[in-house]
Amino acid sequence: MPLVDDARAVRANAYVPYSNFKVGAAIRAASGAVYSGVNVENVAYPEGTCAEAGAIAAMVAAGDTAITEVAVIADSPVPVSPCGGCRQKLAEFGAADVPVTLATTDGVTVQTTIGEMLPGRFDAHQMSRT
Ligand code: THU
Repeated sequence: MPLVDDARAVRANAYVPYSNFKVGAAIRAASGAVYSGVNVENVAYPEGTCAEAGAIAAMVAAGDTAITEVAVIADSPVPVSPCGGCRQKLAEFGAADVPVTLATTDGVTVQTTIGEMLPGRFDAHQMSRT
């Protein structure tokens, strides 16, 4: 099953009483396991979490730390674009060439990579003098 189908399925469970904008994310890990996440909003708005963050948390909790593929989907006019914070979170666990599918619920997709989404990323090498 294409990873975007996992993202599409989990999206139904998004908790979005404030934005009404449901997002689903799915991550395939190096083990082959697939982890899903949805956005979970909060009445204290900054406490809400993105779908990508939920999928990453599920992956790490299950013992995986290497991402090999990502898919994100929303009911958006153009394929949903992960926020800056989620790009950095994905880059923590996925190499620059890891494929990312961004999708609309209408079936429009864009193929990109973690590296294309976050050029010039901050990484551990920059702390090599510490
Ligand atoms: N959102 C995500 O979950 N992932 C994205 O890639 C973009 C934005 C959520 C956060 C918030 O719950 C809602 O979409 C509107 O910003």
